[in-house]
Amino acid sequence: MTFKVHRGSLLHFPQVTSSPADNYQYWNDGVLVVENGRITHVGEAKEFFSVSANKALLIQGHVIQHHGLLIPGMIDAHVHFPQIEMIASYGKQLLDWLNTYTFPTELRFSKQDYCNAQAEFFIQQLFSHGTTTASVFATVHPQSVNAFFAAAERHDARMICGKIMMDRFCPDELQDTPESGYRDSKELIERWHKNGRALYAITPRFAPTSTPEQLAKAGQLAKEHPDTFIQTHLSENHGEMAWVKDLFPEEDDYLAVYERYNLVRDRALFGHALHLNDREFKSLAANGASIAFCPSSNLFLGSGLFDYQKAKEAGIPVAIASDVGAGTSLSLLRNQSDAYKVCQLQGVSLDAFESLYLCTQGAAAAMGLDHLIGNFNIGTEADFVELDLTAFPMLKQRILRCQELSEQLFALVTLGDERVIEKTYVHGNLVYQKDVMLCGHNSTNGLRYLSSGSM
Ligand code: GUN
Ligand code: ZN
Repeated sequence: MTFKVHRGSLLHFPQVTSSPADNYQYWNDGVLVVENGRITHVGEAKEFFSVSANKALLIQGHVIQHHGLLIPGMIDAHVHFPQIEMIASYGKQLLDWLNTYTFPTELRFSKQDYCNAQAEFFIQQLFSHGTTTASVFATVHPQSVNAFFAAAERHDARMICGKIMMDRFCPDELQDTPESGYRDSKELIERWHKNGRALYAITPRFAPTSTPEQLAKAGQLAKEHPDTFIQTHLSENHGEMAWVKDLFPEEDDYLAVYERYNLVRDRALFGHALHLNDREFKSLAANGASIAFCPSSNLFLGSGLFDYQKAKEAGIPVAIASDVGAGTSLSLLRNQSDAYKVCQLQGVSLDAFESLYLCTQGAAAAMGLDHLIGNFNIGTEADFVELDLTAFPMLKQRILRCQELSEQLFALVTLGDERVIEKTYVHGNLVYQKDVMLCGHNSTNGLRYLSSGSM
């Protein structure tokens, strides 16, 4: 039995809402009680310690004092773990970027040892960026999924992952077949889905790289395993959309391809969704599907501007996502800053309560997981982070000049990044502490600087 009282400033969104700025809970001096990895109490510290049995906890050493702000662990709704090593690759838009950088990188994941090392590295990077749950694309290789879930299991982290299904228009060594993609995915579902904190996502990469036969097999899996997730890409880039039109001429629009194969349902997460028509907005809402809004990726690849306001008005659940390696940071704080700018370019000012919501409770709700994660409600799993709002001088000065919580949060999400993450807790356990090595991963092995001629 483990029992800890975390004392500090607390902020969370207890319910699903379209108005997070009016529906948050904040305690300047609060307590979060964690027993066996679950939250058993949240509230005002003064009230809690007015009970004499609780006061005794102070001298018994059960109370951890935090100087920063505690929020629920952030949730990244769309990210590619094999692409962490090719983040920041120059000069291409989506389809060229896939061919030039992504496919050559993903080829390395045929080797189990390589998968294991990169999965561990990636998960530790998530924690150091304040992310405790992610919906993760592996590669076509089943061993990449096994490596990822094994690493997540070692840290007792709630993670969603799936093997990419892809049977055309990519290197031969990255192709499965409709049958092998189905069989391998099914084996992985049977091995991992709901095993501990693991959740499986059926993962056809995107419509162009799957034949109709493979999409049909993905849809079959989705029917046979209705409580699994589905993750894919939708309407990210104009070249991609023209290609889909070419490959599936009988369909009215991009989403109709996924609808045809039973891939639009609740727990289906569509990455990007930048260039949707009205029918597609309506269909996503009517079918209970969600959108992963990937602002830094969309800016980096020059893909376009996500119409957050329209998705919200259509009633589609939205979550912010990094989409690394097209995204330029795993930090969901940095991605919130990009989300703000994407919305500004369309005349909408996203406030910080709302963007934080889209990385915590809103993201959990978009995944149907808000009964487990994304908030501090009693009975949920204790995944949370401590943010140091004074982590670096410029942020500290800005924060100290703020009058209101809303202003402080806006400075945090505009200026903040991984430097702000002081501690990360997963299922009640400390998995990351700034400047302290907890897991012994040697990340500097093999570091070399390449020189290209004269200096
Ligand atoms: N569309 C198909 N595959 C990918 C991918 O790996 N990244 C992004 N951003 N878009 C995709
Ligand atoms: Zn993606």
